Amino acid sequence: MPNGSVPRHVAIIMDGNGRWAEKRHLPRVLGHRKGVKALERVVERADAAGVEYLSAYAFSTENWKRSSAEVAGLMTLFGRYIGKKTAALKARHGRIRFAGRRDRLPLSVLRALEAAEESTKDETGLQFILCVDYGGRQEVVDAVKKIITSGVGADAVTEELLSAHMYLPDAPDPDLIIRTSGEERLSNFWLWTGAYSELYFTDTLWPDFDEAALDAALASYAGRQRRMGGGTGA
Ligand code: IPE
Ligand code: IPE
Ligand code: MG
Repeated sequence: MPNGSVPRHVAIIMDGNGRWAEKRHLPRVLGHRKGVKALERVVERADAAGVEYLSAYAFSTENWKRSSAEVAGLMTLFGRYIGKKTAALKARHGRIRFAGRRDRLPLSVLRALEAAEESTKDETGLQFILCVDYGGRQEVVDAVKKIITSGVGADAVTEELLSAHMYLPDAPDPDLIIRTSGEERLSNFWLWTGAYSELYFTDTLWPDFDEAALDAALASYAGRQRRMGGGTGA
C-alpha cells in the first residue's frame, strides 16, 4: 500500500551547483549562490506542504579537499545566508539547527550558526537543519566519543544509546532523502539515521530545483510502500 503521506523529515543532498555554473562558463561560486536561491524556494514550499523537518547538506567533511578559493567562497556564502535568512525563517516561526563538526569552521560562520540556533530555539514551526562540515561517519565517531567519555560499559551500548548521542537525537529519522544532479550515492549523508530512508534521485541540477521539483519528489514518496523490514503485509 502506498503510504500516501507527507514525509515528516525531508533531507536534501544539494548537488550540481558547480556543473550548473560550468555549463554557463561561470565561476563555480556563482552556482553556489544560485543554489542558495533554490534552497529558499524549497524551504518555503516544504513548510507549506506540511513537512516538519527539512535538512540540507551544504558542506561535507570531505568538501575541505576543494580549492581554497571555492571553500572560502562557500564559507562567505554560509555566513551571509545564515544572517539574512534567520529573520525570515523566524517570522514564519521556523527554527534553525546545525549538524556537523563545530571545531573547524571559520569563527564568523560558527558564531552566525550559533546565533541563529539561539534566536530561533523556541520556535515551533518548520525545523530547518543545515548540515555544514557534516559527515555521517564523523557523526558516529562523535557519538562513540561522547559515550566513552560518559563512562558507559560495553554491555550498555545499544542502538538506542548510539541514537541518543547523534547530533540531533530528538529529530525524527529522515523519511525521504532527495539527491539532485543525477548522482546516485549518499556521499556520507545521514548514515545512521538514514538506514530506512526512501531515496529519490533527479537529474535536475540543484540551482534549477524548484517548487514543482519538490512536489514531484513528495508525490513519489507518497506512492512508496515503506516496510522497515516488516514484510509485505505491514
Ligand atoms: C553541491 O554542488 C554543493 C557542495 C558540495 C558544496 P557541487 O559543488 O558538488 O556541484 P558539482 O557536483 O561539482 O556540479
Ligand atoms: C555531497 O556532494 C555533499 C554536498 C552536497 C554538500 P559532493 O559533490 O561533495 O559529493 P561527491 O563528491 O559527488 O560524492
Ligand atoms: Mg557535487
